[in-house]
Amino acid sequence: MQRLAPALRQDNVPLDLISLIKTILAATKEISFRVSQADLGGLMGSTLDENIQGEVQKKLDVVANELFKDILLESGFVKAISSEEEDTSVAGNAVGKYIVSFDPLDGSSNIDINSLIGTIFSIHEAPEHMDADNPDMFKQSGNRQVCAGYVLYGPSTMLVMTTGSGTHFYVLDRTHGGYLLVQRSVRVPEDTQEFAINMSNQRFWQAPMQNYINDLLAGDTGPRGKNFNMRWIAAMVGDIHRVLCRGGIFTYPKDSRKAEQPYKLRLMYEANPMSFLIEQAGGLAMTSQGRIMDIEPDSIHQRVEVIMGSKNEVEACLGYYK
Ligand code: AHG
Ligand code: MN
Ligand code: MN
Repeated sequence: MQRLAPALRQDNVPLDLISLIKTILAATKEISFRVSQADLGGLMGSTLDENIQGEVQKKLDVVANELFKDILLESGFVKAISSEEEDTSVAGNAVGKYIVSFDPLDGSSNIDINSLIGTIFSIHEAPEHMDADNPDMFKQSGNRQVCAGYVLYGPSTMLVMTTGSGTHFYVLDRTHGGYLLVQRSVRVPEDTQEFAINMSNQRFWQAPMQNYINDLLAGDTGPRGKNFNMRWIAAMVGDIHRVLCRGGIFTYPKDSRKAEQPYKLRLMYEANPMSFLIEQAGGLAMTSQGRIMDIEPDSIHQRVEVIMGSKNEVEACLGYYK
C-alpha cells in the first residue's frame, strides 16, 4: 500500500502543501491516541466554558483545538488559523503560504458515549496583501480550497482527503505510525435509498423539505416508488463518510427553531470541506439556492443550509424547491 507523501506527489501536490498536510496529520495521530485512552486520559466530559457560538465545550474539544492550533502556528507554513473553538482567526507566520480552518472535534455529543467523532479541515492559500491577524483572509469561497479532509476516529482511524484530484481514503497504520492509501478516487453512487436528517426537527423545516421527506417515508407506495432507510450518526464526519462509502443524501436544512439562526452547520470548517470531498467523488453539495462552494463568506462562523450526497437524490430533493 502506498504511503501518504508518494500518493500526494502522484497528484502533483506542491511540496510545501504536503508538509502542511503532514503537520495536520501529526496532530490527528495524537488526538486519535487520546480518544482511544478515553477515561484513562481524563478527557471525558465537559468543561465549564462555552465557545463563541454558545455551545458548551467538551474537554476533548478544547484539547484537540489546542493541539491543532499549536502545531499549525509553530509549523511556519501557516499565516493564520480559524477554528470552531476560537472566537476569531489567530495569526501565525506573517509569510506563511496557507490558512487553515478546522473543526477540531466534530460530533462532540458522541465523545462521552464512545461513538464516532472526527476532525475536519480546509486549506486555502493566504492572500499576500493582508496582515496575518486580518480575519478577512478567510473570506474565500470553497471553490478556492487547495485541500480538504477529515479524520475519523472510529474502530480504525481513517483520513479522507482531496487536493482536487479525486477523494482518497487512507487508514492510520499504527505499526509504522503513518497513513496508508487504501482507496483512490472514491465515487459516490448516483442513486440511493438512504437518507440522513435529524427527524426531530421536522416541524420546523420549510414546506419543500417536509414534502420531500414525506415522499421518502411513503416508500414504494408513494410517488418515489421505492423504500428508503434512515441513518443519523449525529456527527457530520460519520454521516458523510457513510455517503462516500455507499451513497445517500445528508441534509441539515433551514429550520425555524431560532429566528436568528436558521442553519446549524458551519460553512468554513464543516460544509465547504465536505462539499469539496463530495464533489470530487462525483456527488453534489448544495443549499436549496445553489452550490455551497460558490458562497462568498462574510464571517468565520457563518452557518449554511446543507443538502449533499448522491447526485440524483440531491437533484430530486432540490426539485421540491422549484
Ligand atoms: P460539533 O460537534 O462540531 O459542534 O458539530 C456537530 C454537528 C454535526 O457534526 C452534526 O451533523 C450535527 O451537529 C448534529 O446535530 P444534532 O444535534 O441535530 O443531531
Ligand atoms: Mn462540527
Ligand atoms: Mn466541533
